[in-house]
Amino acid sequence: MKFTRRHFTIGAAATATALACPAIAQNAPMVIKFSHVAAEDTPKGKGANKFKELAEKYTQGKVKIEHYPNSQLYKDKEEIEALQLGAVQLLAPSTAKFAPLGAKEFEALDLPFLYRDDAHFQKIAAGPVGKYLMGKLEPHGVKGLGFWDNGFYYITSNRALVKPADFKGLKVRISGSKIADQYFRAVGGIPQILAFSEVYHAMQTGVVDAGENSASNIFTQKFHEVQSHVTGMHHGHLQYAVITNAKFWAGLPADIRTQLEKAMNEANVYTNSIALQENIDAMEDIKKSGKTTVRILTPEEAKPWREAMMPVYKWAEGRVGKEILDLIQKEAAAV
Ligand code: LMR
Repeated sequence: MKFTRRHFTIGAAATATALACPAIAQNAPMVIKFSHVAAEDTPKGKGANKFKELAEKYTQGKVKIEHYPNSQLYKDKEEIEALQLGAVQLLAPSTAKFAPLGAKEFEALDLPFLYRDDAHFQKIAAGPVGKYLMGKLEPHGVKGLGFWDNGFYYITSNRALVKPADFKGLKVRISGSKIADQYFRAVGGIPQILAFSEVYHAMQTGVVDAGENSASNIFTQKFHEVQSHVTGMHHGHLQYAVITNAKFWAGLPADIRTQLEKAMNEANVYTNSIALQENIDAMEDIKKSGKTTVRILTPEEAKPWREAMMPVYKWAEGRVGKEILDLIQKEAAAV
């Protein structure tokens, strides 16, 4: 290749950046690590792959995205610490896991029976609620880059669940949210936080009797093979926020940052556009496996669960604060 004046200009800029940011050596691409705990064949895994494809294309190879799915690099809590330390640059944790970041307001998204459907969740996240929540990350050195949908939770269990009383005494794995802790306690469960990568074994050995997850996570982690029942009632919803270390992001060369933001905005749209169908397909696969019994409760059957869990809204005020609690309910009614 013939070098033109333009190449030398870029070279000089890259050298200056290399001094400020050791990740960029001259000519070598800058490596950005994107780590998460879910499987590659899920909305989150596919979203990360889409971002990788677009980011590498838009930066014309100046950036290389290394995608590490399936807790390969870090488990739940460790990945947040690694982001704060700068050991990893991009994560997409479930918003139920944001309290250790100092942003427990995100748990408002876990309020029971809040969303009509996935589109309803996406509208709420795209409006003032999402803006308010992302603003809560800034004082903690974290920047939010978008919300990713992963559909409604199903409850997996080693017992059939129809009435709330059926849940009594079940040890239930939760991912971190105190709101989930409360709504499961409201139906007599005994919640316990466990890292995602430990859930299969805990279910297999009876350390826990139940859990909640999206169909795509249940299928790819094989939870349906170690839980006899899968029950759907739209009691809760799984969503992620893509986050980066704010200092790292601000320190990127402006042109690279713009290209990465464009890639991320498109990856956000893509991921949210596939989430519903991915989860429908995963539920079909779970049913086809014949390894568990799937039951979707009728609205009439879901009603006593809803009634038992509703007091959590009042309790949540002390956890997430009145401001977001009022805002999210107002938005949920409006959109
Ligand atoms: C869980 O821990 O159950 C989920 O947050 C995993 C994930 O990231 O999808």
